[in-house]
Amino acid sequence: MGVRIKGLGFYVPGKRLTNFDLEKMVDTSDEWIRTRTGIQERRIASNDEATSDLAYQAAVQALQRAQVKPEELDMIIVTTATPDYLFPATACIVQSKLNAQNAACFDVEAACPGFIYGLEIARGFLELPRYRKVLVIGAETLSRLVDWEDRNTCVLFGDGAGAAVLEKDNTDHGIISSYLKGNGALGQLLILPAGGSRRPATQDTVQQREHYIKMQGREVFKYAVTGMQEAALKTLERAHIKPEDITWLVPHQANIRIIEATRERLGIPEHKVYVNIAKYGNTSAASIPIALTEMVEEGKIKEGDLVLLVSFGAGFIYGGMLIKW
Ligand code: UT7
Repeated sequence: MGVRIKGLGFYVPGKRLTNFDLEKMVDTSDEWIRTRTGIQERRIASNDEATSDLAYQAAVQALQRAQVKPEELDMIIVTTATPDYLFPATACIVQSKLNAQNAACFDVEAACPGFIYGLEIARGFLELPRYRKVLVIGAETLSRLVDWEDRNTCVLFGDGAGAAVLEKDNTDHGIISSYLKGNGALGQLLILPAGGSRRPATQDTVQQREHYIKMQGREVFKYAVTGMQEAALKTLERAHIKPEDITWLVPHQANIRIIEATRERLGIPEHKVYVNIAKYGNTSAASIPIALTEMVEEGKIKEGDLVLLVSFGAGFIYGGMLIKW
């Protein structure tokens, strides 16, 4: 018995923040951002939108396309680094908005690879007889945690959500293999220092700007390339598939140069790699489900395609997943 994605959806807020807008906010340029990251614009949630609102919109679309009613859901997993609250879980808020009264619900904090982690957790549950339909959502409002005075980070991130409905499947389609890994020793290189139990909010943490993302970009870059390569190769090895046999590589969209370096190391031609970073920037856990939804909408992914997902993020954690569509 396998596990298959039955429907996908995504939502991004209407407000676009372009590189030219950022030129007016910090000492940067469209040219620097485009050439160093590949990003041209990103979406920003409106003041009355939180992560659960984005997640809900993506979920409604995924459920419609899967032809699944909210009350049929056995579980809702939201993967996010930017929950509405520390608790209750954002998945509970989404459950209430959907009126999915039969669903268990919890959040997974697995940074950028969160969606891959969420799919793997859903797969584990769906292998049990009791669970039949699980909704996995990657959703972020990173604009709320970005220091808009720090040009090293504020140009990189965007808001958005992507969702997938997963079901049991008795064909040979669906999730084939996966590889999840962590390296917690390097966690300080990409961190939001305050607001948790280690550094609760005080006047001091606010003054020191410790409630914003801190990143040592150059270091993260190096580990991202080696981590994505390891995750891709191990995932393929576990399925006895060679890189040249995959139809699509769908990488986390953090930086076009990370994607390009990973692609080169794997020996995968450019036309097999999906890239949408120019439009959305780095949307963390939402980046892969947004990409997958666009690919399906554009008719790029076809039945039987071998699709390799790969991601890297804060933790550090990284992972890959191979899906036969
Ligand atoms: O989601 C997963 C986790 N995140 C990532 O994977 C991100 C990984 N890192 C990166 O993508 C890149 O390291 C960055 C895009 C963050 C930075 O690119 P870089 O090529 O590594 O630049 P750098 O940090 O080495 O900085 C080069 C120069 C510096 O100036 P000096 O010291 O050489 O004078 C920076 O101050 O570029 C400067 N710089 C900027 N200039 C204009 C940094 N940010 C900007 C900016 N505009 N926004």
